[in-house]
Amino acid sequence: MEKRNLPRLAHNVISLIGAIIALSAGLVLAFFLIISLIAHKINPYLGILLYMVLPAILVAGLLLIPAGMYVRWRGLQKKGAIAYHKWPDIDLNKKGHRNAALIFMLGTTAFIVISAVGIYQAYHYTDSVAFCGLTCHTVMHPEYATYQDSPHARVECVACHIGPGAGWYARSKLSGLYQVYATIAGKYPKPIPTPIGNLRPAQETCEQCHWPSQFFGGQQRQFNYYLYDRTNTHWQINMLIKTGGGNPKTSQTSGIHWHMNIARKVEYIARDKKRQDIPWVRITDRETGKAAVYQDISRPLSQDELALAKPRIMDCMDCHNRPSHNLHSPDYAINFAILTGLIDPALPEIKQVAVNAMNKEYRSSALARDNIAGEITSFYRTRYPEVYSQKEKMINSAIQAIQTAFMKNIFPGMKAKWSDYPDNIGHFIFRGCMRCHDGNHRDSKGSVITNDCRTCHIILSQGIRERPEILNLQVGLDFRHPLDIGDAWKGGACYECHKGIQP
Ligand code: HEC
Ligand code: HEC
Ligand code: HEC
Ligand code: HEC
Ligand code: HEC
Ligand code: HEC
Repeated sequence: MEKRNLPRLAHNVISLIGAIIALSAGLVLAFFLIISLIAHKINPYLGILLYMVLPAILVAGLLLIPAGMYVRWRGLQKKGAIAYHKWPDIDLNKKGHRNAALIFMLGTTAFIVISAVGIYQAYHYTDSVAFCGLTCHTVMHPEYATYQDSPHARVECVACHIGPGAGWYARSKLSGLYQVYATIAGKYPKPIPTPIGNLRPAQETCEQCHWPSQFFGGQQRQFNYYLYDRTNTHWQINMLIKTGGGNPKTSQTSGIHWHMNIARKVEYIARDKKRQDIPWVRITDRETGKAAVYQDISRPLSQDELALAKPRIMDCMDCHNRPSHNLHSPDYAINFAILTGLIDPALPEIKQVAVNAMNKEYRSSALARDNIAGEITSFYRTRYPEVYSQKEKMINSAIQAIQTAFMKNIFPGMKAKWSDYPDNIGHFIFRGCMRCHDGNHRDSKGSVITNDCRTCHIILSQGIRERPEILNLQVGLDFRHPLDIGDAWKGGACYECHKGIQP
């Protein structure tokens, strides 16, 4: 008895199996944890194994050890082989008990260390772009693919979708559990509906990086179009977008960012879930508290609708609702492919054929790829045989570009495409700004939410690219020095006289 290396109860098959399982899982876990610490980035599936499956196995193994001992104890009791004691007898004078205590203490210490590292790593892992974007590959594919092409490709998903703080972290993990279930059970909607009802307010996400009170000025933007004609005429519009700001302290309270809730609060009521039909808007001056309500006079809200509705305070996401997941229309995607040289506009009618090929209903991306190739090839073979025989290479690269445009913007697996996700910036293919600025929204005094083209932007030049119509603004005024100093300013060496004090 005294010579046992471990207590008598520990000698049983269940505890032995438990110990082997726990030890193996622990070793594998420790090994991969070290790798994940060194490698920084790990495969998302390895992450699931590492942070979810292996720890579960380890804990199950550990639980088997006392379970086996309990079963053995019950067995010995029944046989009357040992006396009944409510609590275990621990006698450190016995070698077996000493060893067991030692193993228990060392094991517990190792377990706590591995858990601490593991939980820390798991925290980062479940917040990583790879986890959000790749583990539920099919479900997140449209969002992940478009995200990678967006200006926010280096901003982590969680920076916009969760934001800082423990409360939202816990909330997101809880709803995440349901989402894992929904994914496995195939119970998710296709496409995933937008807007997201419980998205965290922009103040706590976007505004962690973008600082609304520091916005001002305008932005020059060039819009490129290729017409649906034989020569794919390149039409260009150059505009000064009056981005502006909303902070009275910088005396910049005009322009588009006027809505940014600094000096005024803008609220609205939408009739539909996608927030595209906005019949009611209220602005409140934060200083004086004065409010004005604008209603769509063509279809105002009824008293009942008004009583039930809860106004939403306008924030960044009411305009920038697609800052990261831009599913582009075929028209835009093909314009862009031509502009960036992926499709050669020397191919007759390519704009039109490409858009048509991209816009067909396909059941899968693979089918789309084959069909696009077939359609473009047969178009040139039958309609433009000379082009087909002389410019095969050009046609092939066009096909590739159209296929890529399709893969990046249309996702048959999730039934997701541009028309499902209205983009609220502008008013070209969605109502966007015109949800309120359509000229129909009036207040009680009859003043209208402005619809004047020049309120939001000024056209600097427009037309066929080679011979555009240009506003003089583009050329600008010749500089006039406030004090006549002859030609002295002409070299641009203002700093020779201007030193930050009176020159
Ligand atoms: C710059 C901020 C930002 C980043 C980064 C970002 N998202 Fe989004 N995401 C949004 C906004 C805004 C919406 C639309 C919210 C709305 O309309 O209610 C959205 C919507 C979604 C939706 C709902 C479906 C849809 O397309 O509207 C999913 C799913 C999603 N994002 C997943 C992701 C994943 C996965 C990542 C990382 C790979 C990510 N997001 C990164 C801002 C972001
Ligand atoms: C973690 C920081 C971070 C967060 C959070 C963030 N952004 Fe950005 N955003 C950036 C950076 C950095 C850029 C500049 C990217 C560049 O120019 O390459 C940018 C660019 C932009 C632009 C200009 C895009 C363009 O086409 O030039 C807009 C608009 C924008 N963000 C809106 C938003 C909105 C809306 C949100 C919240 C949903 C948001 N951002 C959240 C960092 C962030
Ligand atoms: C009324 C609609 C609207 C609201 C609300 C709004 N924006 Fe904008 N924002 C625009 C438009 C329009 C532009 C012009 C550029 C463009 O088309 O992307 C712009 C431009 C920007 C840019 C690029 C600026 C530059 O000079 O490069 C950033 C960044 C940005 N917004 C962030 C935000 C953030 C953050 C919020 C919330 C605090 C916000 N916006 C609220 C409409 C809006
Ligand atoms: C309430 C503000 C507002 C008004 C009013 C307005 N626009 Fe715009 N417009 C915008 C914004 C914002 C964009 C998008 C800018 C961007 O994408 O950066 C835009 C985009 C455009 C574009 C480029 C379309 C594209 O996306 O390819 C054209 C052209 C244009 N507007 C013409 C007009 C004309 C003509 C009028 C008058 C009938 C008008 N706009 C009135 C805000 C406005
Ligand atoms: C929810 C309704 C709503 C939406 C959506 C909206 N606006 Fe406005 N906007 C208003 C109201 C209300 C005013 C104040 C009335 C006015 O000046 O005509 C205003 C005023 C403006 C002004 C004038 C600010 C100044 O200098 O006094 C600009 C510029 C503007 N909006 C641009 C835009 C652009 C660009 C978009 C789309 C990206 C947009 N708005 C979307 C409600 C809206
Ligand atoms: C030969 C010296 C000289 C050069 C070079 C020169 N300036 Fe000046 N500038 C002056 C003087 C002198 C005044 C008058 C100061 C006063 O009495 O208010 C002045 C006044 C001005 C003012 C009025 C505000 C102020 O600071 O007094 C502006 C703006 C200005 N200059 C811009 C420029 C710019 C831009 C350039 C370069 C393209 C330039 N100047 C080059 C000498 C010069």
